[in-house]
Amino acid sequence: MKIAVIGTGYVGLVTGVALSEIGHHVTCIDVDPEKVETLNKGVPTIYEPGLEELMKKNMAEHRLAFTAKHAAGLAEAEVVYIAVGTPQRADGSANLDYVMAAAKDIAQNITTNVIVVIKSTVPVGTNLLIKSFINSWTNKGVSVKIASNPEFLREGSAVHDTFHGDRIVIGAEDPETANVLAEINKPFDMPIVKTDIASAEMIKYASNAFLATKISFINEIANLCDQLEANVEEVAKGMGFDHRIGPDFLKAGIGYGGSCFPKDTNALVQLAGNHHHKFNLLESVIEVNNHQQVLLIDKIIKHFGSLKGKRGAILGLAFKPHTDDLRESPALVMIPKLAQLGAELTAYDPIAVSNAKKQINETITYTDNLQTALQNADFAVIITDWPDVKNIDLSSYEQLMHEPIIFDGRNCYSLDEAKQANLIYYSIGRPNQSPELIR
Ligand code: NAD
Ligand code: UGA
Repeated sequence: MKIAVIGTGYVGLVTGVALSEIGHHVTCIDVDPEKVETLNKGVPTIYEPGLEELMKKNMAEHRLAFTAKHAAGLAEAEVVYIAVGTPQRADGSANLDYVMAAAKDIAQNITTNVIVVIKSTVPVGTNLLIKSFINSWTNKGVSVKIASNPEFLREGSAVHDTFHGDRIVIGAEDPETANVLAEINKPFDMPIVKTDIASAEMIKYASNAFLATKISFINEIANLCDQLEANVEEVAKGMGFDHRIGPDFLKAGIGYGGSCFPKDTNALVQLAGNHHHKFNLLESVIEVNNHQQVLLIDKIIKHFGSLKGKRGAILGLAFKPHTDDLRESPALVMIPKLAQLGAELTAYDPIAVSNAKKQINETITYTDNLQTALQNADFAVIITDWPDVKNIDLSSYEQLMHEPIIFDGRNCYSLDEAKQANLIYYSIGRPNQSPELIR
């Protein structure tokens, strides 16, 4: 099929590349001409493992192209995906300005009837609204059908998830539209859930909210374990064997971040509020997460008293490993607080440093070398469980740091390892061992 994808961010670019890989002819459109120029050179504008190879291959085989001109990209499309951002507004609701702009672009540039597929995460009711806008704006005797096809990929494993996901959800207004979408996606060889549009829109929010709930739940258990000398990892393991609970998303830590859980949980609370429903459970999930993101600050202050002039190594800036994305990363909360308390910070990340410089206002030092960050530091805070942080020889902390004091927001090391390496080691939800005992 001839497909256009509007938006070349994490979702749009990966979707466009994947659809071309399974044989469709795809044109990806972005408003940002610089991005398009880079993409046209075969260079991805985001970091995602495996993306560049697939992109280059399909460009060479003439199934994948990029343009900044909507008219050119939409002229021959039979199906148009919308994959633009839906960031959070100040009141927590989803900002649909980009989706509306994309809808206008479609209305002004299609030359034949098309199916519009909304991949962006949008509140229930948005798909039908967009359809009616496009059909009222276009006056060339053409019209659109609409389908909701929410995306479930995770950053850092987006390509893998697209080809090996658990399900594809298609919410369509009629069986014919659903069948076209099912046919497009057939080569992915995944279970397809066909449903109505409103339910498809809700499946996306409910899935993200449920996963966020699991994380806040285990973080609350971890905080209780901290008080009761129990070990949250043992607890999660024991819970996870129950197939009704499952082992995934039970990793306690510094709280969830990223471009979606925070904004989508807030948007669902807002959506519920608009319909006079107070979503108590989800409000608590969000509150627990906000607290979790700064939990380590209390532990650091308790240890040091004053942080004035203390040198801190921040290990990891991205909200999770294998991505250069800092959106809602706990680093964006921790760094300003530590800097305000007078700490002098050096932040390490293997790939997110240039994005971090655009988003962090405090004057700190950046490095993509883990050892450089640790050199002479008085304490280290682990924000992201990058493999090189997890796999570091723990003796390096003692050799490089002024004082080997670690505040581990991701439980990267076992308590035994930490003890053997002579570290003062604070982690999340594991038996507190007094510094005297650990040393
Ligand atoms: P993003 O911000 O990374 O990318 C959006 C892109 O759209 C940008 O490149 C921007 O320049 C472009 N754009 C904006 N308006 C445009 C227009 N009118 N025409 C052409 N291009 C336009 O966003 P993202 O992270 O890919 O997220 C997109 C949507 O998918 C969001 O609704 C998000 O909630 C959802 N989602 C994201 C993920 C994820 O992991 N990032 C996963 C599942 C769902
Ligand atoms: C998440 C969902 O997993 C995807 O299915 C969804 O498509 C996406 O949001 C979205 O809608 O954008 P993503 O945010 O990329 O994907 O990453 P996750 O792996 O889900 O991690 C999110 C956050 O939760 C990270 O900060 C991670 O460190 C944290 N997390 C995850 C935990 O603290 N504990 C866990 O057990 C799992």
